[in-house]
Amino acid sequence: MVPQLRGAGIIGIGSYAPPKVLTNADLEKIVETTDEWILTRTGIRERRVVSEGEAASDLAIEAAKRAIESARLSPEKIDLVICATITGDMPFPSTACLVQNAVGAVNAAAFDLQACCSGWVYSLSAGSQFIRAGTYEHVLVVGVDVLSSVTDWTDRSTCVLFGDAAGAVVLGPTSSDTGVLSSYLGADGSGSELLKIEAGGSKLPTTEETVRNRKHFIKMEGREVFKFSVRVMCEAAIKALDMCGLTPADIDLFVPHQANMRIIESGAARLGLPDEKVFTNLRNYGNTSAASIPLALDQAYRSGRVKEGDVIVAVGFGGGLTWAATVIKWILP
Ligand code: ACO
Repeated sequence: MVPQLRGAGIIGIGSYAPPKVLTNADLEKIVETTDEWILTRTGIRERRVVSEGEAASDLAIEAAKRAIESARLSPEKIDLVICATITGDMPFPSTACLVQNAVGAVNAAAFDLQACCSGWVYSLSAGSQFIRAGTYEHVLVVGVDVLSSVTDWTDRSTCVLFGDAAGAVVLGPTSSDTGVLSSYLGADGSGSELLKIEAGGSKLPTTEETVRNRKHFIKMEGREVFKFSVRVMCEAAIKALDMCGLTPADIDLFVPHQANMRIIESGAARLGLPDEKVFTNLRNYGNTSAASIPLALDQAYRSGRVKEGDVIVAVGFGGGLTWAATVIKWILP
């Protein structure tokens, strides 16, 4: 018989977005676009971007400190820091190590996890396994991205979409019927060409030519990614619900990756969810990649949209291609 594992629940949460706001009107001055096009095609009106000198770790550290404070936990009690990001401060050391040091998690191991916009749900799943297995007591799971640092500000089809932010949670042990009830992760590397940054790795190391040819910026086949996202959002949510014997009717709050309002509306409609059960903030933050879901979750919690015992479903999707859904029975009072 498989032994009954303990559960892993969110015992603290926090987020941080840099104060600098970039509006659609600002973008009208940079590329040929309009506020009306951006709003109707994406649902985004403004986004936050870092100021000069501000890096992923700066956002991640602030979000992590807020999550640790909300957990009322001494940082030495954290056993592991996982940081989901594709825009860490540098190729190495990991941003997780920088966070570990800055928050005083002196007893914690630390690593980065890279799964683009699905990264935070992947990391939540990984962190919760360590707790369920009894290996660790407390895991800090951060999602951070500074996509403005890899955005091609001459490409109107991508530069209007992204923003910078960080979100974090502290996971701790709970009863097996609460906390992270299930996670369903997926990948399809045959779609790796649809969304990528070509250069800067071992395949195409940085040269004057790669810089001149703008190969260090995000390239995306928007329409293909759009179709994939709509399909996978609903499928992944249903798979994760099914894994814990639930259906879409059991969802109290749906927190999808904040990529595009039309993707969210279509996914929510397929799941039969009314507007009041769907949390969105992309109008003011845009697509913040790995930070998108924990930022939204924190805002939902702090605005009173989540109460103890609620069933929350979060779904991420993005480059890789990757996707990930999780069902959480909320325990944070
Ligand atoms: N302003 C004005 N016109 C624009 C803009 C803009 N900012 N961007 C594109 N257009 C034009 C195009 O040039 C095109 O013109 P044409 O018909 O003359 O060629 C027209 O608008 C339509 O372009 P489409 O690409 O078909 O527009 P679409 O409705 O598909 O919207 C968008 C584009 C918003 C990018 C959409 O495809 C999308 O949201 N895709 C998914 C993105 C996503 O969710 N990514 C998630 C993962 S991100 C990650 O993991 C890092």
